[in-house]
Amino acid sequence: MKKTRRFSALIMALVMLFTCAASFSANAQSVSDVIWNEYYAAATEQIEAAVMLTPGSNESERYVSWYSKADKGEVVLFDSLGREIGKFSTTAKATPQGDYRLGAVISGLKGPATYAYYCKSGDWKSKTYTFSVDGDKSFTAMYMTDIHISGDKYEENSIRDTAGKFNKTLTAGVTKAFAGGKTVDLILSAGDQASDGLRDEYTGLCAPEYIKSIPFATVIGNHDRKSVDYRYFTFQPNTAKMNLKSYVGTDYWFVKGDVLFFMIDSNNISMADHRRFVKAAVEANPDVKWRVAVFHHDLYSGRIPSRESENELLRIMWAPIADEFGFDLCLLGHSHYYTISNVMYNNKTVTATENGGTVKNAEGTVYMVSGSINNPRNDDNIELSENIGHAYLTEDTIYNLIDFTNESIVIRSYTVEDGEEIGSITIEKTSNEGGHTYKTPAKWYYPIIDVISFIAGFFNNIGRYYDNTQLGFDIPLFEGLFG
Ligand SMILES: [Fe+2]
Ligand SMILES: [Fe+2]
Repeated sequence: MKKTRRFSALIMALVMLFTCAASFSANAQSVSDVIWNEYYAAATEQIEAAVMLTPGSNESERYVSWYSKADKGEVVLFDSLGREIGKFSTTAKATPQGDYRLGAVISGLKGPATYAYYCKSGDWKSKTYTFSVDGDKSFTAMYMTDIHISGDKYEENSIRDTAGKFNKTLTAGVTKAFAGGKTVDLILSAGDQASDGLRDEYTGLCAPEYIKSIPFATVIGNHDRKSVDYRYFTFQPNTAKMNLKSYVGTDYWFVKGDVLFFMIDSNNISMADHRRFVKAAVEANPDVKWRVAVFHHDLYSGRIPSRESENELLRIMWAPIADEFGFDLCLLGHSHYYTISNVMYNNKTVTATENGGTVKNAEGTVYMVSGSINNPRNDDNIELSENIGHAYLTEDTIYNLIDFTNESIVIRSYTVEDGEEIGSITIEKTSNEGGHTYKTPAKWYYPIIDVISFIAGFFNNIGRYYDNTQLGFDIPLFEGLFG
């Protein structure tokens, strides 16, 4: 009897190993363009299939979420030998569509290791997916922005096709990293994941297999606020409680390796709330060496003439926070074209940067904007500002691989179309502080920014509340106005 049990345990382990191996190869080999349409139809057939893996508070956690008809579910976790090592129950957000977005926090992870998991709710069970947990503090992130999964009403398959472009970009990044002996351990997206903020678009966003195996961290773009679905779709750690926030979400932070990531909703312009969030994140992680912010709105890139007055206001609001808390790098979007700024402090260039160059112990912050995945912009109207060290205007699709180590942040940028490097920069610090002074130069108007930005943010929310109720969503007044 004992022997039989041992034998069946062995068979189970082998089956799990095989399942893991199969899903490893599915992750490593891309779903190619040729079979994307077929794959996409199957991947979006059931609402539950929109599974997404998100970073946890630190490397010992992962967040998993999916849509479900049932209001309860669980994630079952396996170690690399296929042994079941945990079950994690879900919390549920009731969606306007009458079902739920479930979320489970996988905790207690120890690296270096590979784990496998599946999700279960009602009578549905997901495929088994794998993910890796790092054992040291070095890792590679893939940064992209303005993915713009788009449910264009004039194009029947636009969600499928824009999700296909996203999948192709992920494949290019994972393949490029692999060729350099690295793995993509994190995907950062600086907003406008969806063009109209619609649930079907977010379902398309979750179609690539990578989204279930590599933690995917997003921030809110102005397009993600065009409807309410981003509010239900996301499941993130350390979310900020704010006096005023967007209805669809808020800031959150996580730590990976030696990097504290501030994932900020720059649509919400209540600056006192953002400052409180950043301060609390820093105080919770005083010894983490690198500080990287990700938010949607571009500050320094250039002058699409209609946007320059908005950018000027945003610079006045954001620069003091970057200066006070010594942000090393800000990863942005919104402009749809690629730029890397000089080292900026007090809204001025303090050190010029150049393509391929290194900045050591920078006395300020480098701001980077990448091109859009589905809507890259390259037109004659773009006038680059004097604060930009390197720009690359193209209609090709750009992605960036960022190597984070204790000594440096190395950014390399490529196009999907020809795979050539189009830009790079290295940021080095010889101590946790580097060249940062953590001081914000005093300006007479700083004290009133908090008040004015709160009032302006409140009026902004009134506009969004009105638009969303016009779309037919039933939103409680207080939450509509304050988030
Ligand atoms: Fe955009
Ligand atoms: Fe945008």
